[in-house]
Amino acid sequence: MLPMFVADGISEPREIHSMPGVVQHTRDSLRRAAADAVAAGVGGVMLFGVPRDEDKDPTGSVGVAEDGILNVALRDLAKDLGDDTVLMADTCLDEFTDHGHCGVLDAAGRVDNDLTNRRYVELAVAQADSGAHVVGPSGMMDGQVAAIRDGLDAAGHTDTVILAYAAKFASGFYGPFRDAVGSSLRGDRRTYQQNPGNAREALHEVELDIDEGADIVMVKPAMGYLDIVRAAADLSPVPVAAYQVSGEYSMISAAAANGWIDLQTVALETLTGIRRAGADIVVTYWAADVAGWLA
Ligand code: PBG
Repeated sequence: MLPMFVADGISEPREIHSMPGVVQHTRDSLRRAAADAVAAGVGGVMLFGVPRDEDKDPTGSVGVAEDGILNVALRDLAKDLGDDTVLMADTCLDEFTDHGHCGVLDAAGRVDNDLTNRRYVELAVAQADSGAHVVGPSGMMDGQVAAIRDGLDAAGHTDTVILAYAAKFASGFYGPFRDAVGSSLRGDRRTYQQNPGNAREALHEVELDIDEGADIVMVKPAMGYLDIVRAAADLSPVPVAAYQVSGEYSMISAAAANGWIDLQTVALETLTGIRRAGADIVVTYWAADVAGWLA
């Protein structure tokens, strides 16, 4: 699966300096790049929206808005690609909030778990209305999968798939992604993402999401957490995904650009490792390249 970024208010694709080869797309360049990726053979595209800074607010309204960049771009791709590919949306608030957290805040400035889940339901329904086949709640709120399943069903979206970010660790490897989405975050996400040292808790999160109705469970990042991928694959009755995140991509890209390692060899080796650990689905910024290499 190929993650892609689409930004509002730009007229040319914009390079992401910490992710060489990855761009923030305009609506038009996204349509072309997504069609090319699907033609190359990717298993699907996962879309992240980057609004204009002035459109961000405390509750991430532009994520829910029908004319918000992510929903508009989902409609573009749904129209262009139909059922030729699997169209996924990132179902989170951090790209859309002015404080950059994945949820809405309470009076004390802490993320309010249950209020956030209500917002996630609105996001998920807006994305399904816009043509997403799969919603990907990535905010790690407790109960988010159950809330979204209920909300989607109540809105008539009984066939919309939930890819649950089940074991998402509070990781330094997301650094380049925060450039990619122009994140406004100050501080960290350690009150809602997982502790990298705690495997037992991570697997408990996977089990909870399966109980709540997740159709796919994801482990993220991938390379430093292959033991969790393997354990999740062993226990899960639903497919397991792993996300090779921005920092993994950038690290290998940078070393290859210096001539220290061979990009294709190392990229394929890491992806093979993720598959060997038991991932049924791999999310990687190299998805389109890999589809070409394997063909
Ligand atoms: C949050 C989100 C993040 C990523 C995907 N969804 C960032 C975070 O949790 O801080 C990271 C992806 C990557 O690093 O490639 N919506």
